[in-house]
Amino acid sequence: MSALIDEATRIAREFDYPADQVQRGVAEYIKQSNDGLAQEGTTLSQIPTFVTAVPNGSEKGLYLAVDLGGTNFRVCSVQLHGDTTFSLTQSKIMIPRELMASGTSKDLFLFLARQIEAFLRIHHNEHFEAHQRRRRDGNNEEDLFDLGFTFSFPVRQCGINRGTLIRWTKGFNIPDAVGHDVCALLQSAINELHLPVRVAALVNDTVGTLMARSYTSPGETGTFLGAIFGTGTNGAYVEKIDRITKLQKMEDAHYDTSTGEMIINAEWGSFDNHLSVLPSTVYDHDLDADSNNPGVQMFEKRVSGMFLGEILRLALLAMHNNPDLGLFKPSKTSKVVTPENSTLYRQWGLDTSLLSQVEADNTAEMEDVKAALKDHLKIENPSNDECQAVKILVHAIGKRAARLSAVPLAAILIHTRKLETDDIVDVGVDGSLVEFYPNFEGYMLEALHEVPQVGAAGAKKVRVGISKDGSGVGAALIALVASKDETLQNP
Ligand code: GLC
Repeated sequence: MSALIDEATRIAREFDYPADQVQRGVAEYIKQSNDGLAQEGTTLSQIPTFVTAVPNGSEKGLYLAVDLGGTNFRVCSVQLHGDTTFSLTQSKIMIPRELMASGTSKDLFLFLARQIEAFLRIHHNEHFEAHQRRRRDGNNEEDLFDLGFTFSFPVRQCGINRGTLIRWTKGFNIPDAVGHDVCALLQSAINELHLPVRVAALVNDTVGTLMARSYTSPGETGTFLGAIFGTGTNGAYVEKIDRITKLQKMEDAHYDTSTGEMIINAEWGSFDNHLSVLPSTVYDHDLDADSNNPGVQMFEKRVSGMFLGEILRLALLAMHNNPDLGLFKPSKTSKVVTPENSTLYRQWGLDTSLLSQVEADNTAEMEDVKAALKDHLKIENPSNDECQAVKILVHAIGKRAARLSAVPLAAILIHTRKLETDDIVDVGVDGSLVEFYPNFEGYMLEALHEVPQVGAAGAKKVRVGISKDGSGVGAALIALVASKDETLQNP
């Protein structure tokens, strides 16, 4: 074997995440999640969402939904037909980088409101014009669209359409928004443009995924958990209200207790921020140290799309800089890789789609790996050993992420005693990793089996299904629930 393959194999081993570590992770997760249910300000936020029922597929109506949480802002209108189906019209706009990380909250929210306006003019112009006419005539009669606002960041919620931003994640950083009610910020930008829209519900994408999955695939008991494995990672699940003891201390909270349950947004991206059980390599350490939020979202930084490309880049760069290995160094076939011509040198320079592309390769000549290296890193004609080394690292980083993903899943199943009945436990998932990284779900379920309290019998009861674009439909469903709530307060 060549020195290059030896070294790649050695580094890959650092990403092993064996069954005993998965178990330790699960035990710690259960502990941190109980802390999160009892008090505010804990690592695992366990945010009460004030959504107290899941849909059964019979819900009907036309709702607006917007989604802010990744690189795109999505606006959609959703017609729920009431028979588990829906029609969705949507537009997607890339958020200018300067609005994500250096502008003010006013700039950002006005930008969002303008996109809603453009969407209404194109797809619901009659409604829009009628509203403008009534306004000009001084007619105060309101015929507003109820909007579900999917805002996928940690928010302290105190009602279904009220919540203050705790902190930004995933590359967003607009300090003046922290501590403010994001529904009120959006509503005031909407009002500034006189749009016929009421922000009726604040929704995390995981909660939307759970709701959408429950609407489209209703079972006896509804969906139990929604999870995202995309740019970020997080999950939401159905909890008994009695166990959310911190609710009793929230004086401003208002909610319906008739079902005895409430969806909890775990914010599991911040599980084990103090690294008591999470695996760590030097690449994880360096990624965190150079990020804009060191010391937080430590679980997310090992699992989700925004970070896996960067972990790989740091490992490849270390090998590239090792003069004994010759990785991506000038040779007869490959061009010189320099800071000027390759993103190998640039922080966040590697997109996680590279990992999916490399992992999917099953050609004898590693054609897909070569194509990926060319597209992403501008590396031409890499040698077979170079391709093999990249494959080994990609596999190790992706598999560790998938196995880590079993930790919150197992912990929540155990903590809620969900596996103690014969019922199927329905889990809705979404995000680029589950969608595109080959066998991500398979590795996750394999690790789930290995947890003794789950075992093969327990894992068999877990039914995982993709809930594609669930956050739009889910937000519409929550807007529906909220619009029927007579005590709904204006944000
Ligand atoms: C980040 C956010 C969380 C969101 C997740 C997936 O972890 O903090 O709210 O659900 O990304 O988008």
